Amino acid sequence: MKTLDDLLAEGVAGKRVFVRADLNVPLDGTTITDDGRIRAVAPTIAALAGAGARVVVASHLGRPKGAPDPQFSLAPVAVRLGELLGKDVAFATDTVGESAKATVAATGDGEVTLLENLRFNAGETSKDDAERGAFADELARLADLYVGDGFGAVHRKHASVFDLPARLPHAAGQLIATEVGVLKQLTEDVKRPYVVVLGGAKVSDKLAVIDNLVQKADRILIGGGMMFTFLKAQGHEVGSSLLQEDQIPAVREYLAKAKERGVEFVLPVDVVAAPGFPDVKAQQPTNPVTVPVDAIPADVMGLDIGPETNKLFASKITDAATVFWNGPMGVFEHPDYAEGTRAVAQALLDSEAFTVVGGGDSAAAVRILGFDENAFGHISTGGGASLEYLEGKTLPGLAALED
Ligand code: 3PG
Repeated sequence: MKTLDDLLAEGVAGKRVFVRADLNVPLDGTTITDDGRIRAVAPTIAALAGAGARVVVASHLGRPKGAPDPQFSLAPVAVRLGELLGKDVAFATDTVGESAKATVAATGDGEVTLLENLRFNAGETSKDDAERGAFADELARLADLYVGDGFGAVHRKHASVFDLPARLPHAAGQLIATEVGVLKQLTEDVKRPYVVVLGGAKVSDKLAVIDNLVQKADRILIGGGMMFTFLKAQGHEVGSSLLQEDQIPAVREYLAKAKERGVEFVLPVDVVAAPGFPDVKAQQPTNPVTVPVDAIPADVMGLDIGPETNKLFASKITDAATVFWNGPMGVFEHPDYAEGTRAVAQALLDSEAFTVVGGGDSAAAVRILGFDENAFGHISTGGGASLEYLEGKTLPGLAALED
């Protein structure tokens, strides 16, 4: 795989370089609530601009339905990217239309343009190769070279991720190189004990990775909404908590497999619960109760792991040599249900382990809860992407960057 350094050594001055980034950041209206993904790709863009390239940055944001939708505009991201780079970032109000063509044509050496959300064009995510290819052809006309650096989207077979690099000389950016380097350490040469902490809402999103991790990890800790399917599989009542009944047989199978292989599965012993889901915007106190997992009342919903579980999980992390953590332990956006996620983050920091925080919500949680992100071994920008990498899948956006 060609690297950014290889490209810079060949010379990029005066060349139009298309950088596929993942600038899919959380927004509250037009306010960016976590700019981690913008900061993560900024060094690649700065290096190209510094070498005199005409940089054309592109990304998706959210899941618009193949047509312009103002709530998913990348306009606020152009402003933040400009602040981080210390230079104006021109913004094209479409992807391959008149605005994009004119803005790219006006981009001078060392200057940066951001295109509007790629998913405003149906060709970006189309399952039809010809439709995706046609959009990639149009994108290819905007550039001379391609740099893939949207790690968070490399598991998507999308036009700008998969088809475009086939049409232009290409290289991997610094972010992708770093992310892949770290994930290789988890798959090829992992230092043990290897502890995996999984949270997040749905167990169905994590089954494939659990299947793989049962063969690799020494210990798997389960929190977040998905814990209730595990608890139910073990015979506990879970009140009105999030539950995926249809996944119970699969969960039972993984628990049995883990036992067979000597992998320790650690489930919560208590939960923080309330009658309903909290209003995370209002941030009002909600009077939660803490209950043991074998006594969850029928009329409450579990929203975080409890204080005894916080201690239990910390004790299971403390002697680890490697920790991979994906998914919050509870509804961390509300202070009444943030303690479990905070406790896990703190346990990672207190351990001597090489710690990897895998993506999306857990990465945002670490920053939103005020932790120093540099204190972790690595905070990935890819939630789904890092999980699919660990599942052992071929990721289209990485395969496309191979020579
Ligand atoms: C993510 O947030 O995981 C990436 O940006 C990919 O987004 P997607 O799941 O909408 O493809």
